[in-house]
Amino acid sequence: MKFDVVVIGAGAAGLMSAATAAARGRKVLVLDHAKQAGKKILISGGGRCNFTNMDVVPGNYLCGNPHFVKSALAQYSHWDFIGMVCRHGIAYHERDHGQLFCDDSAKEIVQMLLSECDQHGVQLRLRTEIQSVSHGEEGFSLATSLGRIQAESLIVATGGLSMPKLGATPYGYQLAEQFGLTVLPTRAGLVPLTLRPEDKQHFEPLSGISLTTSIQAGPRGKPSGPAFTEQMLITHRGVSGPAVLQASNYRGIGEPVCVDLLPSADVAELLAEAKSKSPKRQLLTVLSEWLPGRLAEALMARQAWSNEQIAQLSKAQISEIAQSLNAFELKPAGDEGYRTAEVTLGGIDTDQISSKTMECKTVSGLFFAGEVLDVTGWLGGYNFQWAWSSGYVAGQNA
Ligand code: FDA
Repeated sequence: MKFDVVVIGAGAAGLMSAATAAARGRKVLVLDHAKQAGKKILISGGGRCNFTNMDVVPGNYLCGNPHFVKSALAQYSHWDFIGMVCRHGIAYHERDHGQLFCDDSAKEIVQMLLSECDQHGVQLRLRTEIQSVSHGEEGFSLATSLGRIQAESLIVATGGLSMPKLGATPYGYQLAEQFGLTVLPTRAGLVPLTLRPEDKQHFEPLSGISLTTSIQAGPRGKPSGPAFTEQMLITHRGVSGPAVLQASNYRGIGEPVCVDLLPSADVAELLAEAKSKSPKRQLLTVLSEWLPGRLAEALMARQAWSNEQIAQLSKAQISEIAQSLNAFELKPAGDEGYRTAEVTLGGIDTDQISSKTMECKTVSGLFFAGEVLDVTGWLGGYNFQWAWSSGYVAGQNA
């Protein structure tokens, strides 16, 4: 079998690149070992797929080269994808922070991509194992469970390592290494954090409590990323919710995160005011007005604060309480790993890839798109936008 373009991976980036290449008149085959195309799309956004964001800028991405994403995002922007969604009559809505979701189901996004592929004659083969890939003067030769397949161009869109149950494999990284490319160390991103036993004893009973926080990766006063003001959820094993997932992308191994439990207030000022207005009230009563009562109690126990009248608090005590509430330094035990992570940080070093075409600089005809590259977006539709943009660019050039 001979094709102009073979795409490995029928996920977000793979389907987009296949439809784009086929629309240019290329004969395209997509191969995937899974039983179903677009599995991650189907479960994304709680089944409604947060397919892009109204405010996509390069700063929303982590990548060894922060400029790398610029060209692809400009060549195929969120507006282009929204245009496709509208052409297919898919109803959608905007949530907080500009996140766009389907009104009905993520299935519509997969159907849209499959129908774009179908319309342009893309052939799709699922449940297909790729045994080896070689490259010579004739292009690429793939030994697969379907037999030998020849291709002029090869697009690798095998995604990252998160959620192995859904078919994630390191195959894209192995192929990149086979062709002499560097794969930067990978780790789980957009991932819940687990607590050390000494914190777990205080916070585990609060499982289910959710509150608006502002979380920044890194120690107090030495942030290693931006602050994210969103919900934090306390779970049986640790902390989760959008603010935690966002900060997890920027947390260095073993690093703490700094949590502002009252991001809209200066706790030192609030305490000073409470001290002058109602000096006889006890500390727990006051804190319970600002925080969920059980969290206030747990914090007091963890910090060993006695429940004295506010009037008794010294300046040093006020400043300690204020610091603990506005900049609570949480040292996680670790994270939940690829089992629950939404994305994979690290991956194929973008230094070896043309940002304008997604083609490998050293192997002509070899393209990479999507999460397999060292590009990770924030939570909020940015990872799918990267898959659409990089997939489109690869499809335009393969
Ligand atoms: P993707 O993982 O989509 O596709 C890779 C494909 O390659 C898969 O079909 C896989 O089977 C195939 N493959 C892998 N190894 C293979 C091999 N050896 N042989 C053949 N085929 C192989 N992002 C976002 O922007 N908004 C959201 O709402 C969400 N929600 C979300 C929820 C959950 C639970 C997860 C796990 C992730 C998200 N994401 C997200 C992230 C988003 O799903 C992810 O970034 C994109 O799917 C990446 O697209 P890719 O096409 O690169 O990989």
